Amino acid sequence: MMSAAPFSDLDSLTRAEAEAEVPELVARIEAANHAYHTLDAPKISDADYDALKRRLAAIEARFPDLARADSPTMRVGAAVAEGFGKVAHEIRMLSLENAFLDADVADFDGRMRSYLGLGPESALPCTAEPKIDGLSLSLRYEDGLLVQAATRGDGEVGENVTENARTIADIPQRLTGAPAVLEVRGEVYMSHADFAALNARQAERGDKTFANPRNAAAGSVRQLDARITASRPLKFFAYSWGVLSEPLSDTQLGAIERLKALGFQTNPLTRLCADTAEMLAHYRAIEAQRATLGYDIDGVVYKVNDLALQARLGFRSTTPRWAIAHKFPAELAWTRLEKIEIQVGRTGALSPVARLAPVTVGGVVVSNATLHNEDYIAGLSSKGEVIRDGKDIREGDWVQVYRAGDVIPKVADVDLSRRDPAAQPFVFPHLCPECGSEALREEGDAVRRCTGGLICPAQAVEKLKHFVSRAAFDIEGLGAKQVEAFYKDGWIREPAEIFTLQARFGAGLQQLKNREGWGEKSAQNLFQAIEEKRKIPLARLIFALGIRHVGESSAALFATHYLTWERFEAAMRAAVPGSAEWQELLSIDGVGETLAASVTAAFHPGAERDAIDRLVTHLTVEPAVPRASDSPVAGLTVVFTGTLERMTRAEAKARAEALGAKVAGSVSAKTDILVAGPGAGSKAKKAADLGVRVIDEEAWIRLIGAT
Ligand code: IVH
Repeated sequence: MMSAAPFSDLDSLTRAEAEAEVPELVARIEAANHAYHTLDAPKISDADYDALKRRLAAIEARFPDLARADSPTMRVGAAVAEGFGKVAHEIRMLSLENAFLDADVADFDGRMRSYLGLGPESALPCTAEPKIDGLSLSLRYEDGLLVQAATRGDGEVGENVTENARTIADIPQRLTGAPAVLEVRGEVYMSHADFAALNARQAERGDKTFANPRNAAAGSVRQLDARITASRPLKFFAYSWGVLSEPLSDTQLGAIERLKALGFQTNPLTRLCADTAEMLAHYRAIEAQRATLGYDIDGVVYKVNDLALQARLGFRSTTPRWAIAHKFPAELAWTRLEKIEIQVGRTGALSPVARLAPVTVGGVVVSNATLHNEDYIAGLSSKGEVIRDGKDIREGDWVQVYRAGDVIPKVADVDLSRRDPAAQPFVFPHLCPECGSEALREEGDAVRRCTGGLICPAQAVEKLKHFVSRAAFDIEGLGAKQVEAFYKDGWIREPAEIFTLQARFGAGLQQLKNREGWGEKSAQNLFQAIEEKRKIPLARLIFALGIRHVGESSAALFATHYLTWERFEAAMRAAVPGSAEWQELLSIDGVGETLAASVTAAFHPGAERDAIDRLVTHLTVEPAVPRASDSPVAGLTVVFTGTLERMTRAEAKARAEALGAKVAGSVSAKTDILVAGPGAGSKAKKAADLGVRVIDEEAWIRLIGAT
């Protein structure tokens, strides 16, 4: 390593000398940052680096006008070499709704029919194909050349893994006869045979082995060194698409055939089914072949075949209405329930968890299962109906556990013949096991909740975990594990303190560096990641607050309605039942009394509101943009009444919302347009009284430019 030359005496430094020295110092610090962060190959010692920075800071203190706005003394870290570049998906990569029972599939068909206004006599054919258990990948081709490959990430932003994708034989580098822009989506996976061979090789070399083919595939795609990916036997099935400069076909099956003709692997078990009965029959056929396919699948995906209907059906917040994943039944296993423990969640819910003797269920070792709530343990559903023939669950029992999809394992049954005669019914605590506060069950709520609020350490830490989670602040390097450790040591007790962490502990980074698992680089990266999140979109902030009943989609509703934090906060403070603000809150489509009561409660005077106040002083909240703001109805409040003839009410509402309009259930002075079909009654009259614009369905369709 190079050593720094001694510096001249600061007191006798002339301005001219300082002017010459500053750029030199800046260059040396930046070179050191680059070597350290980007190349992972430090060129100077930490002490020399600190000396350079101190020298620069001292000169800047003496000649403040020489301090450049982008001086390294103003920054926490350097531009960090991110593992992978980020790719924003032009069209979000969504997930699929799950079906478990045949009845769920019939329900899927029924819901689509009612959305589209199709009677039982109309055909609604769907494709059925295996659901591959791998990781999804988006491949962008421009003029037939593969230009970018990206992982799904959070659906909006994924990782750029182009170089790695180029090493996968199933992924063509060049296409002939493809649309000028074509984004192909599909699944990267590893076959059972290749997985076994890879694990054997890894073990032989003393390298890490993988738990299952999906992990192996995911780990192989996300290698920083593409040569490693190249050495991994990855495969790819194409099953969907994103951005297109021209349509691939007018049917799902046609599009898949087109992708096949272009050179992609498509799944040979893809079939067109005329109705639900055929879909279920194909599901059984695929299930029967599951063990001999040679790769993991975890269900069957059904997709509406007619792409025009797919477009009409559109999307809910995270899943399409035109597709569903019919999962294979969960695997079951018997094991001993050793202990019932109570966990306290973010909203104070006391959740019983079964600690199990470890058992393998569907290839995964399971040692915990959820027991939902006290009624469930007692043998009652949340509606008070008898479940498991009324058998209760006791510590020491033999229980049957299952995994449905990727969710937390559950307890399906109890073997009473193996119960210890001395076993006692489980007594559910009435005090919070974490803070000792009273735990109450409200009328009609199956869940008992700790009343300790933020004084309860479990609630506080769960709120923090939620706050940093992916859909919330998503701070790189600050995950559930880290916030838990910081909380335990009293470094971060509430969200606001994340943003004062550097001021309190960042000096010289020494304290953070001394913590287990933290080095200078990771500490600097953390501060930088926190800095980046001081600017936060409104919907994310509202979701991050962790208010009961406020999930991602209701947070988005509030954001698009109120648009700015100031308006949202003022409205929540003023919204007491009976007030105009309360009425406005309830007029938001999708907001009911329960949600309204819950969200406003967080803004009533008290500890929760104080914590929110402390937090927002550290943030710049980005206003929400009304969706599709270039549409003629963006930002307008629309009410539908009477009979619509061209589309169902659900479709009309979803389309209006997709164009950025707000759809309300009742007419008020805030209504911009009333779309009145035949039979419109009191709403039309009220609209006329209020001077609200009233149009018929045809005019509405012309207005939104649909046909
Ligand atoms: S279609 C808009 N088809 O399952 C939905 N997905 O749970 C597009 N997957 O993220 C997805 N096999 O990674 C589709 N044949 C298949 C699939 C499939 C596996 C994965 C995909 C998706 C996840 C959703």
